[in-house]
Amino acid sequence: MRDLASAILGDNVMFGSETNPEGLVNIGTAENYSMLDEVANFIKLHDLGFKGVDFNYGEGPWGSTRLRKAMAKYINKHFHSYVPVEADDLLSASGCTSMFNMLGLTLGDPGDGILLSRPSYTAFPTDFGLMAKIKPVFVSSNGVDQFSPEVAHTYEDALEKAKKDGIRIRALMLCNPHNPLGQCYPKDTIIALMRFCNEHQIHMLADEVYAQSVYETPNKAATQFVSILSFDSSEYIDPNYLHFLYGMSKDLACGGLRLGVLHTRNKELMRAMSSITQFHWAGMADERIAIMMLEDEQWIKKFLETSRQKLAASSRLVRQLMDDAGIRYSHNSNAGFFLWVDLSPWLKEKDGEDGWKMEEVLTRKMLNNKVFILNGGAQAAEEPGFFRLVFSHDEKTLRKGFERLLKTLKEQE
Ligand SMILES: Cc1ncc(COP(=O)(O)O)c(C=O)c1O
Repeated sequence: MRDLASAILGDNVMFGSETNPEGLVNIGTAENYSMLDEVANFIKLHDLGFKGVDFNYGEGPWGSTRLRKAMAKYINKHFHSYVPVEADDLLSASGCTSMFNMLGLTLGDPGDGILLSRPSYTAFPTDFGLMAKIKPVFVSSNGVDQFSPEVAHTYEDALEKAKKDGIRIRALMLCNPHNPLGQCYPKDTIIALMRFCNEHQIHMLADEVYAQSVYETPNKAATQFVSILSFDSSEYIDPNYLHFLYGMSKDLACGGLRLGVLHTRNKELMRAMSSITQFHWAGMADERIAIMMLEDEQWIKKFLETSRQKLAASSRLVRQLMDDAGIRYSHNSNAGFFLWVDLSPWLKEKDGEDGWKMEEVLTRKMLNNKVFILNGGAQAAEEPGFFRLVFSHDEKTLRKGFERLLKTLKEQE
C-alpha cells in the first residue's frame, strides 16, 4: 500500500504542466486540488500569530474550546442547523478517518457490522475494519434507485441477511453527498433511512464532508444537498442514534491538515470517544490554522463560492470531453470532486476471465500510460467497468489526464 501510494502520490512522480510534464496524472484521489493555492495564499497573507503556547499540549486531545466554537459557528451557518450545534457536542481528532476508527471501537464489538451503500468510499471498510474489526455489510441496490426512499427496503434485506450470517448491525453510513457517485440524498430518503435506523436501534453516521462542494450543472433536476442537521429529525430518529461528521479535508482543501469533527448529542458515545482521542490527537499548529480559517467568515464564504465555481467549470470540461469521446457517466452528479464513469465497453476478454480482472488490467494499462483513476472494484461497485474520475484540477492537468485515458481506451479497441 505504501509503495503504491508513493508510486501515485510522490512529489517526483506527479504531473506538473511546467515542472514534470512526463509525470503521472492522478485523477483518482479526491482532493480539492484547484483550491490548495488559495489556502496557501491565506496563510501567506496572514500573520498566524503563533505563540509558544501553540506548541504545547493545549487543552488536551478533545480539541480546544476556541476550535470547537469556531467549528460550531461554521456548521450552524453553512449547514443551517435546526437545533444549534454547541461546541460541547463536538469532538475533534486527526481527520474523519480517525473518527471512523474510534466509532468502530466504541459502537460495536469485533464481528459486528456496518451497512454501506454500493459503491462506497474506498476506505470505509478499512477505517472500521482494520482495528475495530467491524465488518462492512454492503447494500446492493438490485436495480432500486439508491437515492429514492424505497432504498430503505434494500437496507432491510441486507440487515436480515446479516442477522442470518450471525452479524449484528450496529450502524448505517449515510455518505451525503455521496462518494463516489457525487449525488445528494433527497430529504425523503434521509427520513426513510432515519426511520429504518430508529426501528432497528442502529446508529446513523452522517458523513457530510462534501456538503459545501455542491456545484451548478446543466441538469436542473439534480438533487440539492440537505443536511441531517437542518431539520427537526427527532420524530424520525432518537437523537442518541444520530451522529454527524465533518472535516477540513474536502470543502476546505486541507487534506493534509488532519482535522475532523464528530457532532453527537449522545453523552455516552461522547464519553467513550473522548476516552480514546489521545491516540488521534490533531496537532495544535493544525488547530491554529483551522481556527484562523474558520473565524474569518468573509474569507470562508468567498473561498467556498470560488471552490464551487471552479468545480462547476472543471466538471463542465470533463463532461464535454466525455460526451465528445462517447463515454457514459452519471449525469445526476452535482457534488464532490468526481464523476462515476462507465468504461465497461473497454473491458476486453483478452485481459482476463472475469470483469473484475479485466478492470484491474485496464487500470494497470492506464498507469503504464501515466494516468491513475480509481476503479470500481476498489469501491465495492456492483458491476465491473466503472471508475471514479476526479476533476478538481486545473485545465492543463485534466486535458493531459484525459488524453492519456483516451490513448489507453484506443489501445483496447
Ligand atoms: C466520504 C469521505 N469521508 C471521509 C474521508 C476522509 O476524511 P479525512 O481526511 O478527514 O480523514 C474521505 C476522503 O476521501 C471521504 O471521501
